Amino acid sequence: MPEHVKIFEVGPRDGLQNQKRLIATEDKIKLVDMLSNCGFSHIETTSFVSPKWVPQMADAAAVMAGISKKGGTAYTALTPNMRGYEAAIEAGVDEVAIFGSASEGFSWKNINCSIEDSLLRFLPIIEQAKIDKCKVRGYVSCVTHCPYDGRIAPDQVIRVALRLLDMGCYEISLGDTIGAATPETTHRLISSVMNEIPGNLIAGHFHDTNNNALKNIDVCLEAGIRTFDSAVGGLGGCPYAEGAKGNVDTVAVVNMLHEMNYETGLSIEKLNKASAFARSLSES
Ligand code: HMG
Ligand code: MG
Repeated sequence: MPEHVKIFEVGPRDGLQNQKRLIATEDKIKLVDMLSNCGFSHIETTSFVSPKWVPQMADAAAVMAGISKKGGTAYTALTPNMRGYEAAIEAGVDEVAIFGSASEGFSWKNINCSIEDSLLRFLPIIEQAKIDKCKVRGYVSCVTHCPYDGRIAPDQVIRVALRLLDMGCYEISLGDTIGAATPETTHRLISSVMNEIPGNLIAGHFHDTNNNALKNIDVCLEAGIRTFDSAVGGLGGCPYAEGAKGNVDTVAVVNMLHEMNYETGLSIEKLNKASAFARSLSES
């Protein structure tokens, strides 16, 4: 039996958040609906963040209201604070994600507070989510490099990841926010992290700025990690990490995994159609 690898599709959120042109809500809905047909267990659908900070995600509630949810798929969203969490629950998300950073510089630029303050800000979200029985995923950004602080040591990542897990996150996605990780730095990071945290609680989130994302995923697979984030069409980037290119392309990851005899439950044919549509949104 081929082993299962979970692909957490982040295209509608990470893929679209950095597009310069405002994409029509109906196109975002169409993309999510096309992805729903591909067989994902998780689709990161939008973000309930400040529209002053990320105007592209200002229509989060309308996107959630317009999509046709499919059984077996969790529609998730980023929530930076209680206001975002409450709006996300009101809009019917199945799961939320809080997003911290391993580096102070990125924490300030992205969510306008220190790492410590961000963790304090996340606490009431997690407490309320426990009451609401809503699962919470945790991101740690800049896991090997930060565009402001430079190289990041694995200990900085582990410290934040352990805090997020202690609070109650069910999984930690390790973000190579600017796509600067190499197989060597990824190996160093993952082996240190897995001394402290079991691999089944870790996901890899690689941007593909330097074409190393697939190699980095391979290093993670070798270490026993079985969950990866990716975006259809390879779209993406963070508005607060200049130069950060797209997430690793879902089709490329799935093709690689299938060739390695892993099973993903995803249809390449349907993914190709969703990819073409995602690319048309970024090009038009
Ligand atoms: P702030 O300016 O310090 O906070 O922003 P504020 O409370 O003063 O809010 C500013 C304005 O936004 C106010 O409006 C608030 O009401 C409003 P005003 O009073 O001036 O009219 N506001 C909100 N509106 C809607 N929903 C909300 C919300 N919160 C405040 N939830 C804040 C702090 C955290 C809000 C802001 O910095 C923010 O929204 N940041 C999000 C940035 C972001 O989304 N970045 C991209 C996602 S992270 C990423 O891509 C990395 C990842 O992919 C992993 C990886 O690659 O490493 C996950
Ligand atoms: Mg990202």
